[in-house]
Amino acid sequence: MNIADTIRKRRSVFPKQYSTETISKEELLSALELANYAPSHRMVEPYRFIVFQKESIPTLLELLNDSLAEIPALKKSKTITKLEHSNAIIFIIQKNSDIVPKWENTASMAMAVQNIWLGFADKNIGCYWSTPPWAIQLHKQLGLQENEECRGLLYVGKTDDYPTDSHPMRSDFEGKVEWR
Ligand SMILES: Cc1cc2nc3c(=O)[nH]c(=O)nc-3n(C[C@H](O)[C@H](O)[C@H](O)COP(=O)(O)O)c2cc1C
Repeated sequence: MNIADTIRKRRSVFPKQYSTETISKEELLSALELANYAPSHRMVEPYRFIVFQKESIPTLLELLNDSLAEIPALKKSKTITKLEHSNAIIFIIQKNSDIVPKWENTASMAMAVQNIWLGFADKNIGCYWSTPPWAIQLHKQLGLQENEECRGLLYVGKTDDYPTDSHPMRSDFEGKVEWR
């Protein structure tokens, strides 16, 4: 599939759409390593990832015990179900420094995430980027450094029916470009 087709194909695929098929470490790595091709100002490479594979999700749930205790009961049980239905959970970590402005680190981190997301889409592996307050606040639980921030997580799972209803909700592109 060429790059334009993969960009058009990429969608948010949610845990209820995931099958029980496992994803190997190699499959995860082949999408994850695409992050390394993201550009960054002064090559600060302001991103890293913490991956919980299927067998480590119970450990993750233990780790999140206190964080999830603070959210409403219904939301908490939905979150646990989503984590349990996933084949891997990838925490997105942004590394900041005084070398470049923070927004540039955010931009580069997001480009790295897009690369991973496209890598999964190309292989029909579903994923979506979730940024709930409980995840954004994770720091101690993930053992992050002082200069690091959690920018949410990717829920990941294989799917038998990758969405094909191409991009609902998007407004016309026409109004987004001004030609002069
Ligand atoms: C930075 C970022 C944060 C997001 N956070 C959430 C989230 O917390 N919950 C959620 O359901 N979707 C989240 N999404 C997914 C978007 O809702 C989704 O990409 C959008 O609806 C477009 O759908 P598509 O990905 O299928 O094109 C996030 C996407 C981005 C880029």
